[in-house]
Amino acid sequence: MKDLKTRIAQAHSDFSKELHACINEQALEIVRIKYLGRQGILTDLMSGLSELNAEEKKVFGPLLNELKKNIQDGIMQAKAEFAHQQKEAEAAKKAHFDVTAQPFYPQGSLHPYTRITQEIEDIFISMGFAVADGPELETEFNNFTGLNIPADHPARDEADTFWLPGFTHLLRTHTSPVQIRTMQSQKPPLAIIVPGRTFRNEATDATHDFMFMQLEGIYIDKNISISNLRATINIFLKKLLGDTIELRFRPGFFPFVEPGIEVDALYSFDKNKPAKWLELMGAGMIHPNVLRHGGIDPEIYSGFAFGMGLTRLAMLKYNISDIRIMHSSNTKFLSQF
Ligand code: FA5
Repeated sequence: MKDLKTRIAQAHSDFSKELHACINEQALEIVRIKYLGRQGILTDLMSGLSELNAEEKKVFGPLLNELKKNIQDGIMQAKAEFAHQQKEAEAAKKAHFDVTAQPFYPQGSLHPYTRITQEIEDIFISMGFAVADGPELETEFNNFTGLNIPADHPARDEADTFWLPGFTHLLRTHTSPVQIRTMQSQKPPLAIIVPGRTFRNEATDATHDFMFMQLEGIYIDKNISISNLRATINIFLKKLLGDTIELRFRPGFFPFVEPGIEVDALYSFDKNKPAKWLELMGAGMIHPNVLRHGGIDPEIYSGFAFGMGLTRLAMLKYNISDIRIMHSSNTKFLSQF
């Protein structure tokens, strides 16, 4: 009898501890089965009643009922508490769910070079030009001799050119070597443009870098004159930079053209300062010696060539006041494009 009393007291205390340790409904279900299940602790204790006399039953019956009620109530309350917690968690989720929120995916964009090159290519393609390519590592011949640049020309100087050891190869100083490559591999009529990187061993400032983009163009056919050159450049620059851009054509000297010109555009990155002329390109009628080096008879064919500073065109188009930022990895700058 005393034993039953102790077991009932033990069951109260064990249940209370186990109930507190439950962290979710699954744990609670295990406790419920342990105490209230068909082969549970309560059934076991109840079976002890049959061995008691009537007097004892009167004492232990209510004690066991009290234990049962205590367990059932505890389980019910804990269940209700878990249900409440779950509801609150769901409500909190809903309260903070912003249907308008955009997930943050950093977006890439095209580099100004890519953008302007695509635009320039479209304009020239619409005028019948094809797009060609050439290597950045060039031979001395294609970069200088083939272009009628004499051995003593200052452009060959180490101060201006990134030579490779041996002085037979170099990082091309302009895109003009592609003139020679194109003439040697194709027959006139020829109309091509070549966008590409060029390298010069010189000090940098806001409008000069040691690596920059140029855009070469050549047009070779019968009866080509300088008026074709002027018209092509005029149409191109106005299409790219707008009809209001002010251009200046002036004589210029390049050993590979005769006559040669230079083209400038009036620009101002700062409205409070007076506008200045920015040199955009060299151009001219291809020198007969260059046509010969390319395997083309200058008695039959003539042609024009131009070499634009594509980086400077990008500066004008996108209002970039310092060339060097084009070659930086400045994401604040790049994300504007
Ligand atoms: C040449 O490179 C000639 N090959 C152009 C040419 C081609 C003339 C065909 C005649 C016929 P020049 O060195 O001037 O020329 O460069 C051409 C353009 O490149 C310049 O007008 C300028 O816009 C740009 N440029 C030159 N040096 C730099 C530099 N350091 N940084 C940025 N742009 C430059």
